[in-house]
Amino acid sequence: MVLTLMDKQAGREVATAEVFGQCVLYAPTVEDKIRITRFQHEELKHFQLIARLMAELAWTWTPTCATSRRPARVHRTRPTPDPGLDRPPRSSNFMIDRAATFQLSEYTRGSYVPLAEANRVILKEEEGHKNFGEACLEEMTRDEPTRAEIQRRFKKWFVASMRIFGRAKTPGNQYCIDVGLKTRDSGDIAAAYLDSIRPVMARCGLRFPDRSELPLELPPQVDLSVPAAVAAR
Ligand SMILES: [Fe+2]
Ligand SMILES: [Fe+2]
Repeated sequence: MVLTLMDKQAGREVATAEVFGQCVLYAPTVEDKIRITRFQHEELKHFQLIARLMAELAWTWTPTCATSRRPARVHRTRPTPDPGLDRPPRSSNFMIDRAATFQLSEYTRGSYVPLAEANRVILKEEEGHKNFGEACLEEMTRDEPTRAEIQRRFKKWFVASMRIFGRAKTPGNQYCIDVGLKTRDSGDIAAAYLDSIRPVMARCGLRFPDRSELPLELPPQVDLSVPAAVAAR
């Protein structure tokens, strides 16, 4: 299970680095380009950190446990193109990095100490990515046509962010809670993530998609309402 969690995280770290690589093309200023390449570098370091942990764990296993030896997966650096990526919005890390922050916070309290320690380091940098995404979103939504365009694309990135948590109430979730790898079920983590973005959504004049529009099984505790705007637009 630890290897599965790390494999998923490593895949997301390298995929995010690739998305940042594409974002450099569209960043409007040289300062933005420098910041985004720094984020890309950080994501690749996160990948490297998790990949090393995977290699260490696989190395300590005995050959009698052959089905568990999966060091080859560590080197899964194949490109992960996003087929729907017509123009990567800077605001995508408002959702993706924030969702990752919630998920990785769970691991920092988890029972596998090397993963907990690695994620404490990773989270410090993720905080910067998340804040950058939020600042970009607030700035971009001040322009009405851009806000409408972000709302149009919102569902795609929202679905991608919710997938980070995985399905709620699965046997795998319960196992992670039983052995202390996570402290909460995926549904509770997803609900806490939505609570944290709700005020930003209100400030930006954005709304969540309806449950019926989403190709996802959402846990019941997830609330998709957004209060009336709290700030003057
Ligand atoms: Fe990362
Ligand atoms: Fe990130």
